[in-house]
Amino acid sequence: MGDKHVVRFEPVGIEIEVDEDQTILRAAAEQGVQLMHGCKEGQCAACKSFVLDGDDIELERYSTFALPDFERDEGQTLLCRAHAYEDLTIELLNYDEEIIRGGLPLRKGTVEVVSNEPVTHDMRHLVVRLVEPEEIKFFPGQYMDFVVPGTRETRSFSMANTPNRDGRYEFVIKVYPDGLFSAHLDRKLQVGDRLEVEAPFGTFTLRESRASDLLFVGGGAGLAPILGLLRSMAERGIERGATFYYGARTRRDLCFTDELAELGARLPGFAFVPALSEPAPADAWPGETGLITEVVRRRESRLDGVDAYVCGPPPMVEAAIPTLAALGVTEVFYDKFTTTGDPEGEEGQ
Ligand SMILES: Cc1cc2nc3c(=O)[nH]c(=O)nc-3n(C[C@H](O)[C@H](O)[C@H](O)COP(=O)(O)OP(=O)(O)OC[C@H]3O[C@@H](n4cnc5c(N)ncnc54)[C@H](O)[C@@H]3O)c2cc1C
Ligand code: FES
Repeated sequence: MGDKHVVRFEPVGIEIEVDEDQTILRAAAEQGVQLMHGCKEGQCAACKSFVLDGDDIELERYSTFALPDFERDEGQTLLCRAHAYEDLTIELLNYDEEIIRGGLPLRKGTVEVVSNEPVTHDMRHLVVRLVEPEEIKFFPGQYMDFVVPGTRETRSFSMANTPNRDGRYEFVIKVYPDGLFSAHLDRKLQVGDRLEVEAPFGTFTLRESRASDLLFVGGGAGLAPILGLLRSMAERGIERGATFYYGARTRRDLCFTDELAELGARLPGFAFVPALSEPAPADAWPGETGLITEVVRRRESRLDGVDAYVCGPPPMVEAAIPTLAALGVTEVFYDKFTTTGDPEGEEGQ
């Protein structure tokens, strides 16, 4: 443990105590303050904030795509990488009144693999059950960190299911041939194996105080948290209009299509629009084609007053945000599935 300092967040007026050994984001989460964040690794920029007062801050390794040098010189910082060495005042550039005081407690635990089945040629449906502690709560759309067996590295995976009494958590995970975690999942992980985890993280959750229509845009394994949100809406009878645009390469990359069709019957006003960016001739695909953002642009003329939730590979999320803003979307909530093994941009210190 290092010395502790007080960090005050404006304009919300919340103060927390931060140990020098912790990042500011971590200290806030441990004290129930849910700041906007995604990767927690200095890659996605979701936690970017402005330092109003104080300058004795050190940053762990981050990507200069997330925080270019000129922004750091202007006083911006990444709370997921920042250690405070004096009292600070931070202006939150991106915060959400609805969730900032509603963080669930972070818990470490052990889970046991219940099933690990392929759902496409390169995606797995992993189901685990909590062994200890008794409960790790989460909101639909949040994610869990898994320790990669035999290492101290962690990887993040979004829950595809809804909170339940059985301590079950479901994931949809893309397998990279040399991926530290996903290759282990593909080749070694057996039913009954145990994994160390920590949860819940993430702010890709349904803003409940709003009644606006919803537009979901997902690509690849970005399906997982969106499935969690849609399942939760169906379970709770939420009747907000919702359209889910899902981008895959070919027909063999699609999964959970039967369940999504079935959700359509339970969610009034729900439409599922899968699109293939590289349909194979053998696919004989009758549906939409092209990149998913192009498909949204083609099919939607105005989206004024709509809330959008976007999740998937970073280039897809980055293309979707301006497209949706130009169509008049009120708010875009997003999770970028950044990968640890391949940090974008140069590394800052
Ligand atoms: C908030 C959050 C939630 C996430 N949720 C999910 C989820 O629900 N499901 C899911 O599958 N993933 C999710 N991810 C990504 C996940 O955490 C891992 O980063 C990913 O699974 C790769 O981990 P790995 O250990 O298998 O591969 P790593 O060892 O980290 O690296 C993968 C290898 O593939 C290469 N590589 C990296 N990216 C690509 C790419 N786009 N294309 C080709 N090669 C690449 C790398 O260079 C490296 O060699 C999420 C990430 C974040 C930040
Ligand atoms: S959460 Fe800080 S950069 Fe992603």
